[in-house]
Amino acid sequence: MIYLDSNATTQPAPEVVEAMLPYLRERWVNPSSSYRGAREVRKAIEGARGAVAEWIGAEVEEVVFTSCGTESVNAVHDSVRALWPERRRLIVGATEHAAVMESAERWVRNGGEKVVLPVGRDGVVELGVLREMLREPTALVSVMWANNETGVVAPMAEVVAMAHEAGALVHTDAVQAVGKVAVDVREVAVDFLSLSGHKVHAAKGVGALFVSRRARYLPLLVGGGQESGRRSGTENVAGIVGLGVAVALMRGQDGPRVTAMRDAFEAGVLKRVPEVVVNGLEARRLGTTSSLTFPGVDAAGMLILLDKAGVCCSAGSACHTGALHASHVLEAMGLDAGHAGSTLRFSFCRYNTMEEVERAVEGVVAGGEKMRMLMGVVVGG
Ligand SMILES: Cc1ncc(COP(=O)(O)O)c(C=O)c1O
Repeated sequence: MIYLDSNATTQPAPEVVEAMLPYLRERWVNPSSSYRGAREVRKAIEGARGAVAEWIGAEVEEVVFTSCGTESVNAVHDSVRALWPERRRLIVGATEHAAVMESAERWVRNGGEKVVLPVGRDGVVELGVLREMLREPTALVSVMWANNETGVVAPMAEVVAMAHEAGALVHTDAVQAVGKVAVDVREVAVDFLSLSGHKVHAAKGVGALFVSRRARYLPLLVGGGQESGRRSGTENVAGIVGLGVAVALMRGQDGPRVTAMRDAFEAGVLKRVPEVVVNGLEARRLGTTSSLTFPGVDAAGMLILLDKAGVCCSAGSACHTGALHASHVLEAMGLDAGHAGSTLRFSFCRYNTMEEVERAVEGVVAGGEKMRMLMGVVVGG
């Protein structure tokens, strides 16, 4: 299997699994208990919190562990809406993940107002439009740091500056950004930031939320008062410890090697199939992600052929592949339904090799040719 779908989920790092196992086998006591063993487990949680905090430039008390990126996003939206009822407006980027989009729908169902910030053809949010939108009193601007389908990176510093000038808070879904581009909340002073373990070679079922000490916050889950009362529920200790280790590993120098593989993949495909379009090419992109449109080729059929050839990738975002409909991300970038339906996403990580990349290029080219034959597309005609 050649796994080119790391934006859907990443392979847990072996070091992460090793670090997690003792917390499932031996150190499984409840961290809230009063005996010595529990104190040691609490210390491990705090160690992981310190690692995450340092990674994103936060203070330790600004990091709250959650169950996933989706929970972190929902918690922020709900908190801001509840604490600031006099400001009804939420601005969300047009290419946000479903976690943000659906949470924004709930904002509306609960009496708020949602405004969608468009992106240009390059996938970058339109800052001029944001400035106009912010003329109306706004509670929260929720813009993703990096897009999961195209890898396009948002101008977060500008977004934050504009929003704060207008008195609005800023949340960023940094699930795809952390570990791939520099994310430092001291430099880019967002109020809230969401991240997820399984996108950074940690386990599924663990996420984190940065809550700036400047911001007020109302917890989504109440109960036993864990996480200093900001996220009740017995902690996923093994997951949290694993996230701490994953963070340390992400500090390695994998970036240039992964980008080189992604670039070699794109160059290899484009050389053989020149009509392929690289989405988001004009923008700053994550070095891990390649969104390719194969004009005239049905992406769903291509996925099946690639699966048979042992190449794992996705059409649109993974959550949508069960029900293939045109990706809202690509539509927001101006692609028509036909082109959006001809688009595949390939995402790379440190466990890929150049040899896999070469085999994937062969698989993609062969799959594309077969699909064109089946669909009666005349190449060059
Ligand atoms: C940009 C982005 N935001 C949020 C999420 C949701 O994260 P989780 O799966 O941890 O809930 C994902 C996962 O695909 C994502 O890519």
